[in-house]
Amino acid sequence: MKLFLDSANIKEIEELGPSEYIYGLTTNPTFFYEEGVKSTEEFLSILKDIMPDKEIQLEAMGSVDEILKTARDYVVSPAGTSCEHNIVSKIPFNEEGLEAVSILFKESIRTNVHLVYSVNQAVLAARSGATYVCPLMGRFDDSGQNSSELLGGIKTAFDNYDIKTEILAASVRHPDHVKQALLLGVDAITIPYKVFKLMMDHPLTERGTRAFEKHTVG
Ligand code: E4P
Repeated sequence: MKLFLDSANIKEIEELGPSEYIYGLTTNPTFFYEEGVKSTEEFLSILKDIMPDKEIQLEAMGSVDEILKTARDYVVSPAGTSCEHNIVSKIPFNEEGLEAVSILFKESIRTNVHLVYSVNQAVLAARSGATYVCPLMGRFDDSGQNSSELLGGIKTAFDNYDIKTEILAASVRHPDHVKQALLLGVDAITIPYKVFKLMMDHPLTERGTRAFEKHTVG
């Protein structure tokens, strides 16, 4: 089971990125915009020092040709970072995206098809050769639907047909999303910094630590 940090904030990445429990980093264009990231190359060269051996997921979108170019560029020594084996292209679910995924699959270039909101979309992405499919929990719940049912449905369908594509739960808004995804047995979860921090906390842990500190002898 893989845990990713969902962020483009360098301070957050510096703090949590090197942790043993972090498998890699997922980003998206909105994070880049919010954090003022102007160059993917520069971003990667910073990550190279912070989390050199970890998987990095970056957006590749547009027409089939644009997706192919971006995804291929990522795996050809991006920014001279020598981390080409660690980059996975995040491709939005649509017909162009699936076509690009099927071509990249034949080139052994790994992909994450995201913005997946149904079992059927997940199966189409998997059958196109996606390495990951990425249902967005928070956004699905915001639309008045149930993200646990979505994840559970994808998991059941993949298990039924022995589909090896990994399910990466995203748009995690709170620790209970993480717990739901874990109990459903997904392969990976990408989690924002603030949710990682909330996952660390439990009032009984704090109370117990304070009590033990009081009674500690030298
Ligand atoms: C994943 O693909 C998304 O980029 C990310 O997890 C979205 O999170 P949000 O819905 O909180 O913006």
